[in-house]
Amino acid sequence: MDKKVIYSAVQPSGSLTIGNYLGAIRNWIGMQDEYDCFYAIANMHAITVKQEPSELRRRTLELAALYIACGLDPEKCALYVQSQVPQHAELTWALNSIAYVGELSRMTQFKDKSQKHAENINMGLMDYPVLMAADILLYQAQYVPVGADQKQHVEIARDLAIRFNNRYGDTFTVPEPLILKGGAKICSLQEPTKKMSKSDENPNASVFLTDDRDTVIRKFRRAVTDSGNEIVASDEKPGVTNLLNIYCAFRGCTVGEAEREFAGKGYGDLKLAVGETVADALSPVQEAQKRLLSDKKYLGEVLQAGADRAYRAARRTLSKVYRKIGFYQGE
Ligand code: TRP
Repeated sequence: MDKKVIYSAVQPSGSLTIGNYLGAIRNWIGMQDEYDCFYAIANMHAITVKQEPSELRRRTLELAALYIACGLDPEKCALYVQSQVPQHAELTWALNSIAYVGELSRMTQFKDKSQKHAENINMGLMDYPVLMAADILLYQAQYVPVGADQKQHVEIARDLAIRFNNRYGDTFTVPEPLILKGGAKICSLQEPTKKMSKSDENPNASVFLTDDRDTVIRKFRRAVTDSGNEIVASDEKPGVTNLLNIYCAFRGCTVGEAEREFAGKGYGDLKLAVGETVADALSPVQEAQKRLLSDKKYLGEVLQAGADRAYRAARRTLSKVYRKIGFYQGE
């Protein structure tokens, strides 16, 4: 039997944090044997907010190298750059005609970004969920592993798939979001009741996958902790709880085990131990990423192979769509 299809993507905007790694990339790696996986670098989504062209190009390659450095095997899954597969834009156009302005203007992310970029509320920003639906539906994906903030977008992809299927006959697999619960939510080191974000204005709030050892250790040393001095996870101690969660996620231990390990020790000991654990975990990934980035030819070949594989799958779906909607495709 054919394997089920998983689809996900990350935008090449901003640096990824350890929260992205634990919540997204690491889970993708765990799925590459069991599923037929397509993982994209969503550069077409990225241009809905202003990007410096040379930086966009550089970050696209950096993200590809990072995926591989984290353990994504390009032999097992299709790792590719969204704009290298033209069907994404083509299917978006077809889906646009069944997507309603009303539903798109009500999307939480559209409203947030319109507020944040009030000088640049462009059509792409509004159409973002339709492009994302096209991404997912082109590959007939069953599951879409995403963070909770992207759930609404996967729901619109479901709605569009169902709407299209009802109007034109069975065409698309109706996807389901896979909100990964593995591991606790990773919070800001400065405001530990808030999610760690790659766009936080306070550089000490987030640990980036590209941070060097000293930076990682310094950020943890400056992490906000709570009153008292006991190292236990509890609602009253969001700072300590977050540090314990990060420690456990990288060590593969339970919170209970970590609490026993730190019994009788102080917050300073915990911060140093977490900092060193994270720095130790990141350094081989950073080394591997650097090595990959120094061999652009290899990286280019990997991405071309990924795009070819994605292209074949996407072409199949798009041709079916064009037939259903009555587009002339030659004799
Ligand atoms: N919008 C997603 C994000 O910002 C990235 C993305 C683009 C995506 N296309 C996708 C995620 C398709 C899942 C499936 O995180």
